[in-house]
Amino acid sequence: MSQPLIEVEGLKKYFNLGRGNILKAVNGIDFSINEGETLGVVGESGCGKSTAGRTILRLYEPTAGSVRFNGTDIYKLSPSKMKAMRRDMQMIFQDPYASLNPRFTVTDIIGEALDIHNMAGSRKERKKRVEELLDLVGLNPDHATRYPHEFSGGQRQRIGIARALAVNPKFIICDEPISALDVSIQAQVVNLLQDLQKRLGLTYLFIAHDLSMVKHISDRVAVMYMGRVVELAPSEELYANPLHAYTKTLLSAIPVPDPEIEANKKHILLNDEAAGPIHSKDGAPSQDLFNLDNSQLVEVSKGHWVAM
Ligand SMILES: Nc1ncnc2c1ncn2[C@@H]1O[C@H](COP(=O)(O)OP(=O)(O)OP(=O)(O)O)[C@@H](O)[C@H]1O
Ligand SMILES: [Mg+2]
Repeated sequence: MSQPLIEVEGLKKYFNLGRGNILKAVNGIDFSINEGETLGVVGESGCGKSTAGRTILRLYEPTAGSVRFNGTDIYKLSPSKMKAMRRDMQMIFQDPYASLNPRFTVTDIIGEALDIHNMAGSRKERKKRVEELLDLVGLNPDHATRYPHEFSGGQRQRIGIARALAVNPKFIICDEPISALDVSIQAQVVNLLQDLQKRLGLTYLFIAHDLSMVKHISDRVAVMYMGRVVELAPSEELYANPLHAYTKTLLSAIPVPDPEIEANKKHILLNDEAAGPIHSKDGAPSQDLFNLDNSQLVEVSKGHWVAM
């Protein structure tokens, strides 16, 4: 067994919405990720996946809890030590359009990541490193002087991946990296991420809406609901043997290739009128259908944890 690279314990992130309203976006999550492993995180929109990811990278200060990277509690690091730590922990974003500065060339975008950590070296070395990175993600190094709008969606996401890789990170949070892409190119980007993981020994936290997307790339999957992890298990096990009612609803939302089965399948709707809206107008969760308040994760079989 490899050692945990990331250990998340009792992590909470609340947002103060003003007038005494507190939004508990992440409300006490625990998990660890081993070196070289991919942990998938799934759950519907607004359940706190991105907030959890950002808090784990300390882009947000936590409300409570700890995150250890290789045994070091990152929230205890001074700003300069934290800056150094950021080299090891990077993020790839959902929207390859919004996350790249349209006025920067590819060289500027990737080079900026190098500059922040004083890794650029001379002009010539910087140029060479950018070209290497483009090659690594399957882009033509000759296109380094082009702007983001000159690339397709899939190519832009490759630029985002090259930017994340520029500083030689060990851990990357992939926040829905393929959701915004055409279905036809999603698999290519997933394959690239898997290939890079093998070649560079990367550890991933891979965020997605639905289980079908993370099943193949993840070793284990954590299911989030309203700021908590309700189930965590090896991917195959979670698929074959979902135990929490919410995981079952998520699985029931995956389309079945056989149209007859699909037509007859009973979908469990979380948002139907009988159940009432689970989000209020401002997007804040207002109703907990699964009553998680006093629940905790229990290991029901080896490596399979369920909130009870
Ligand atoms: N900076 C913020 N200030 C206030 N509330 C926020 C902030 N960021 C997120 N939220 C709220 O926290 C909750 C969780 O949001 P988050 O973006 O983490 O969800 P998500 O699971 O990533 O959703 P999606 O699948 O749509 O990306 C939502 O109710 C959201 O409106
Ligand atoms: Mg998100």
